[in-house]
Amino acid sequence: MELMFATANIHKCYEARAILGPSVSIIMPSSLGLSGNIPETGFTLEENALQKSLFLWDKFHIPCFADDTGLEVDGLGGAPGVYSARYAGPACLPADNVKKLLEEMQYMTNRAARFRCVIALILNGTPQFFEGIVEGSIIRIPKGAGGFGYDPVFVPLGWDKTFAEMSEKEKNEISHRKRALEKMARLFV
Ligand code: IMP
Repeated sequence: MELMFATANIHKCYEARAILGPSVSIIMPSSLGLSGNIPETGFTLEENALQKSLFLWDKFHIPCFADDTGLEVDGLGGAPGVYSARYAGPACLPADNVKKLLEEMQYMTNRAARFRCVIALILNGTPQFFEGIVEGSIIRIPKGAGGFGYDPVFVPLGWDKTFAEMSEKEKNEISHRKRALEKMARLFV
């Protein structure tokens, strides 16, 4: 079957293809001529994932899914959460977000945090949700050059290096998105 993934990120598509296996053909909105950003104006990860998948469903009426991820820091009441991409402002760089996060957490001893990914899947009009979480903590000084976003300050539980110090393969083995995709993949075996 064909399943449209609400993303313009080819790396996310490769990852989804690898996890969902050969019974599902993952296509991108661009393959049906949709360019530009899909709106995401929700106040939760669930709302955003649903909004993006409904947008595609309304447009194409084909099975589709969307993901949304946030970094949730316990000492900040779950922030930056759904605002992770633009924590330091609407047009900020990832490094600005990291800088703001470290400033906000300067005097914090509770460093616990998690990446939470929510997928909304629409197969025949009714949405289903899948969640993937990776627990960890925020260090005080960024380390590593790999990955993206908050990777240089996030150390997953049970590891002594940041996501940015891991190989892509190591990170993808335990990532929040992989965990959410794996839950969804159980529908397609
Ligand atoms: P998205 O929903 O995958 O676009 O993620 C939203 C934002 O969360 C990104 O812009 C990043 O700031 C952050 N984020 C999501 N996944 C990761 C990750 O694996 N590592 C670091 N930051 C991430």
